[in-house]
Amino acid sequence: MLGVSGGIAAYKAVEICRRLVDAGAWVSPVMTNAATRFVGQTTLSALASEPVRRSLWDEPEPIPHTRLGQGADLVIVAPATARVIGAYAAGISSDLLTATLLATRAPVLLCPAMHTEMWEHPAVRENVATLRRRGVHVVEPAAGRLAGGDLGTGRLADPADIVAAAAGILGLERRPGRPPGSGSGLAGVAGLAGLAGVVAVVTAGGTREPLDPVRYIGNRSSGKQGYAVAAELARRGASVQLISTVSRPAPPGVAVTAVETAAQMGVAVREAAGSAQVVVMAAAVADFRPKAVAPEKIKKQDGPPEVVLEPTPDILAGLGRARRPGQVIVGFAAETVAPSAAAPLGRTLRDYARAKLDSKGADLIVANDVAAPGVGFAHDTNAVLIVGRGGFEADIALTNKDVVAAAVVDAIAALINRPTPVNRPTQEEQEQS
Ligand code: CTP
Repeated sequence: MLGVSGGIAAYKAVEICRRLVDAGAWVSPVMTNAATRFVGQTTLSALASEPVRRSLWDEPEPIPHTRLGQGADLVIVAPATARVIGAYAAGISSDLLTATLLATRAPVLLCPAMHTEMWEHPAVRENVATLRRRGVHVVEPAAGRLAGGDLGTGRLADPADIVAAAAGILGLERRPGRPPGSGSGLAGVAGLAGLAGVVAVVTAGGTREPLDPVRYIGNRSSGKQGYAVAAELARRGASVQLISTVSRPAPPGVAVTAVETAAQMGVAVREAAGSAQVVVMAAAVADFRPKAVAPEKIKKQDGPPEVVLEPTPDILAGLGRARRPGQVIVGFAAETVAPSAAAPLGRTLRDYARAKLDSKGADLIVANDVAAPGVGFAHDTNAVLIVGRGGFEADIALTNKDVVAAAVVDAIAALINRPTPVNRPTQEEQEQS
């Protein structure tokens, strides 16, 4: 179902509709009355798979919102105005579109578009955050020229990105067109979508711990692997928040929260993890930070400063201790074990990974040897060993980071879909620890 609400970007819904139909989707369009002021109902009816519906009252069928809601595999709202977002967050059904949003159990993809001031208003921010927590997917608006010539964030995301996010949520690239309700139904769709309805938090990049207003202690992490994991989770239908120290383009459908220090990352992760089923700590978090941060730039003539460090809290270990039932917690481990003589007591990557699985209380550890060629920091490639409870292991030879991300998400999906409780160590592991 494609819902169109009343903003200037409604004209772009025509292209989204056409692309969805071209991709093989059956598109049932719903417009609000305001949307018809921006784009012709006839235009959308002509391009969609069935005529536009607008009203709860004038349709031949008595309860169109339940039929539309139950029959949909995915509900897209593009553009989603502040009013529709607010009504949906508050559970108010004032027209066919908002009634359908409440009546559906299909995944929902909101594509907000509005003026920057409206998008940044705390009411809108909180409504969007509420909906995200409930598992609603959001393709963030882009920055650019807005109605009236203003520049800022708020324009509807690119139709191609919206369609890509929709395909990702459904877990398929292409699907034959069919009328709603005639296929596998919602249960079948949930299987296809893979991680639809799952809320995930991913961290990426290296933290920066300030020494003074211009200098920091950092590390070589580029954030590429964390971004790839976030993108893959979103592609499979999860609602993803990425907490990042690096500035890279956000993957489609992923919300990015910018942080800098380990302390800021800890606060953001703990807040987001409260409602997340999956937490992936791909970030390279500083273990130590300067105990005191000079309020002004440290001057050369004052001589080399003596920097005293203090430990940072271990975010991952904290998550492991505070885990909720059913939560899947994934840590990364950047090690240097090559050449093997350099590893203390000849410890292998597997030893390090298994030790971190226990010390952090994680379900999975994704370990890599960052001293090996083409592996880890700043490369587009990676080679990892993924270890989990009950002897689970996946050894991913050197490949690109997207493939590694797919393997990590496969391991996560296997834990989520496991019928038995996932987070308990085996008896053997309990005895060992
Ligand atoms: N991590 C964390 N908080 C920290 C340090 C690390 O959450 N203060 C997380 C990282 O995000 C990663 C995992 O812990 O998922 C392992 O990080 P790593 O640096 O490899 O391990 P450390 O715990 O720092 O142990 P060591 O330095 O001894 O290897």
